Amino acid sequence: MESTNSKPNSLQSICYQRGSLRLLDQRRLPLETVYLDIRSATDGWNAIKDMVVRGAPAIAIAAALSLAVETFNLDFSGTSTEAASFLTKKLEYLVSSRPTAVNLSDAATKLQKLVLKAAETADEPKAVFEAFIDAAERMLTDDVNDNKAIGFHGARFLQSQLKDSESLSILTHCNTGSLATAGYGTALGVIRSVHAEGLLVQAFCTETRPFNQGSRLTAFELVHDMIPATLITDSAAAALMKSGRVNAVIVGADRVAANGDTANKIGTYSLAISASFHKIPFYVAAPVTSIDLSLPSGEDIIVEERSPKELLNADGGLGKQVAAPGISVWNPAFDVTPANLITGIITEKGVITKVSADAFDIKGFVEKVK
Ligand code: MRU
Repeated sequence: MESTNSKPNSLQSICYQRGSLRLLDQRRLPLETVYLDIRSATDGWNAIKDMVVRGAPAIAIAAALSLAVETFNLDFSGTSTEAASFLTKKLEYLVSSRPTAVNLSDAATKLQKLVLKAAETADEPKAVFEAFIDAAERMLTDDVNDNKAIGFHGARFLQSQLKDSESLSILTHCNTGSLATAGYGTALGVIRSVHAEGLLVQAFCTETRPFNQGSRLTAFELVHDMIPATLITDSAAAALMKSGRVNAVIVGADRVAANGDTANKIGTYSLAISASFHKIPFYVAAPVTSIDLSLPSGEDIIVEERSPKELLNADGGLGKQVAAPGISVWNPAFDVTPANLITGIITEKGVITKVSADAFDIKGFVEKVK
């Protein structure tokens, strides 16, 4: 991976042109804007694992495009079937980079099916590679369109829940914005849309320890867009809710199980418990591709555990050691919020609300919108 400095203030995490991929190194934001050249699936895998690129939709797209770039520049002498098998194996490898977000494995499964199908009719491997590259490139535009639709549905729904002349103050967690996606964002996209509608008084973002996606990335996006916003420590969230200064919480998702249980950044579950206690609606905003109908509940979601260094060292592991040497560490990157604490799930196809006090009909919703 080679690095190039480029103009500061960019919120574009994925810069792609056919044959070339550059990823904004999110570890260095907000103080430095550095793009890394990604030339292969191996570069893509390392960039995802090391948090150069993060956020469920962004890692799926970056993974696919890293392979698209490798493929474009490849001198391949095999058959069409061998080309499909080459891509299938590389996709499997990319999926192993981070386990919790379903977007990556969902994209890989769809792309694997597509290349196997292309190989059935292709006379040359080039046709298989081209079908793959086209599909990987479509993920960029599809994601931005989905996010704008999530923003639209979210803002419209939240507005419908307001009493006369009420406006919104929204607490969010982690980073779910442009940087976590191909653009605009999911939960942060809803905040953008609410702001654009003139309905937002204030956004609050948590620091999101230990990697500080909130203080480094979400705060950066909110300041960039001139959205009125305040940063709080993760542990200030309950006090903020008690103070009456927020009337909605919106977070993203890495994986939503069939019953609505949702895996998202560590700390989401605590926010949902606090929101429930203070009777503040708690929303998840995510594309339909974040829903994993193969898992009946959140019990079976694999939660990634990351290096103790993220806690032991300053700056989410990038700085010098600050914790007492010798202490043992538990560092799950995500937690699972049970569906009964979630008020609604905002998707690009509309908002999923409860069909009974505690239950969503997510399967019914997905089948209807497919
Ligand atoms: O560890 P990260 O930074 O990849 O975690 C990101 C989150 O948990 C986001 O909330 C989620 O991926 C949704 S991003 C639109």
